[in-house]
Amino acid sequence: MKINLSSHNHLTCINHKEKKFYLSLENYIADPLNDNECNEGILICNDCSQKYPIIDGVAIIVQNFVSYCSERMMTFGKWLLEVKSDNLKDYLKDVAKDIEKKSITGNNYESDGLYYQSYRWLHNENFESDKFLHLLRWKIKPSDIYRKLASNVIFNPEGIGLDLGCALGLSTFEIAKKFAFVIGVDASFSFIKEARKKSKDQGITNTEFIVADILNLPFKSQKFDLVFGLNIVEFVSLPRLLEEVHNLLKPHSIFIITSPYDYNRENFNEPKMDDILIRKTIEKNGFEISHRTQNESFIPWMLKINERTYLFYFLDLVEAKKISKHKY
Ligand SMILES: C[S@@+](CC[C@H](N)C(=O)[O-])C[C@H]1O[C@@H](n2cnc3c(N)ncnc32)[C@H](O)[C@@H]1O
Ligand SMILES: [Zn+2]
Repeated sequence: MKINLSSHNHLTCINHKEKKFYLSLENYIADPLNDNECNEGILICNDCSQKYPIIDGVAIIVQNFVSYCSERMMTFGKWLLEVKSDNLKDYLKDVAKDIEKKSITGNNYESDGLYYQSYRWLHNENFESDKFLHLLRWKIKPSDIYRKLASNVIFNPEGIGLDLGCALGLSTFEIAKKFAFVIGVDASFSFIKEARKKSKDQGITNTEFIVADILNLPFKSQKFDLVFGLNIVEFVSLPRLLEEVHNLLKPHSIFIITSPYDYNRENFNEPKMDDILIRKTIEKNGFEISHRTQNESFIPWMLKINERTYLFYFLDLVEAKKISKHKY
């Protein structure tokens, strides 16, 4: 069975909790080089009329698009300059009127942000020339971690996977080698744009990437056979994330989550996790932890901040199976 979720007609409006409404597409510019898929357009909910733009092929499904833009003004500025269709340009100009100067902030994960290049570094295959890796005589490539993490995933040629906070899609592409289709979700437009480009350049046809908030995702319940969430614990409330993941997973399906528990990088006002609390919280929220990840693990992972600065981490990994919540 060939599953194709690359068009946007399976996305649902995020304003409704119980009943989910599929979004309709108003296509302004199609891309003839990519099966005429939508390059500029608007997705609309026929029930509540909420609009979600598609910019440069990327669907942005967020509840408050004005605040999304005010958190990444460089990106927003580029859209205003580069968008071609009058309809989308007018839509963005209306958004611009609502952006309040005092609420403008930056985002570390957009192309002008602090961490953008660090994640791009993981994609460069040129690790031999890296001074630090050379010094450590590190034989494994830092990007191999994503292959290793996916190596325990069981082949599911009819399965649909979801990769939360996927960044440039390294883990998404690994899961896609084993699944019929995988959707990567990230808040960063720049990451998602690059991940989509990479999939097109490499002829990968069973992935799609969208911008959305991992706590409010535009999918029907029980859609997924596997959810990955690598290194996102420091960004969101874990109980809320688990509720979302529990709802999206099919019964008895697996959630894989890793974290270095590094709370120094982001502003975070939720309870901070560690190897014990994360396992307790996962078990309390309708999951059973697989036997082999009962104890904490130390999986090496690194990011290169710049030519002279690196972050080296040990990740803890938890694999959990969705079970009925009534047991608790
Ligand atoms: C530390 S990075 C991890 C990236 C990737 N999973 C990896 O392990 O290489 C965290 C990612 O989560 C994204 N992110 C943070 N909060 C998010 C949210 N609420 N919704 C969607 N993405 C989010 C960031 O944009 C960033 O790309
Ligand atoms: Zn709606």
